[in-house]
Amino acid sequence: MIEILVGTNRPGSNTRKVATQIAEIYTTELGAQAALLDLATLPPELFAPAAYENKPAAFATFNRAILDSAGLVIVTPEYNGSMPGVLKYFIDHWKYPEAFEHRPICYVGLSAGPTGAVRPIEHLSAIFAYRNAWQFPERVFLPNINDLLDPATGKLTDAKLVARVEKQARGFLDFLSRLRKTKN
Ligand SMILES: Cc1cc2nc3c(=O)[nH]c(=O)nc-3n(C[C@H](O)[C@H](O)[C@H](O)COP(=O)(O)O)c2cc1C
Repeated sequence: MIEILVGTNRPGSNTRKVATQIAEIYTTELGAQAALLDLATLPPELFAPAAYENKPAAFATFNRAILDSAGLVIVTPEYNGSMPGVLKYFIDHWKYPEAFEHRPICYVGLSAGPTGAVRPIEHLSAIFAYRNAWQFPERVFLPNINDLLDPATGKLTDAKLVARVEKQARGFLDFLSRLRKTKN
């Protein structure tokens, strides 16, 4: 399963819209198995300090989703020049080292401003390089996101941008299949 991670828990988030469209590209267009992993559905008990020692039972599905994922597409918005705090907090609760080591990861970023979340993706790349993940080098940056989404459907409509997202998805699937061959 490829997990498409919605990198914020903000209600009405544009990240969730883009992640949903990406999940459809993987499943409907490319015939891959993919599912959304949405930080808005994290169990509230995860935010108690005691969760570092004792994970809430409801976190088990998130834990399993990461550990069982063939690949992870992180869709991150830019919040104050970095990733949302909830995304880093979620990562800090992953099972170490299994969740990180050799985990194939792919990045899509979006921002209201002109950078398309270059900085959050650089910050995530540093974290996952430190933790020995296998990072797909082709990133997608979506700047000025409020101008890119159709208000009625919440989807990216610009043909060139959609083609870029599709190309990344095809490339990530190829990356995953090459990694599988290397492991066997
Ligand atoms: C707390 C917060 C901080 C933000 N900081 C930035 C920023 O530093 N740069 C930027 O371009 N947009 C920033 N934004 C706007 C988001 O990039 C924008 O809301 C975009 O739609 C993606 O986030 P969303 O998934 O929450 O909608 C910020 C939004 C929030 C909620």
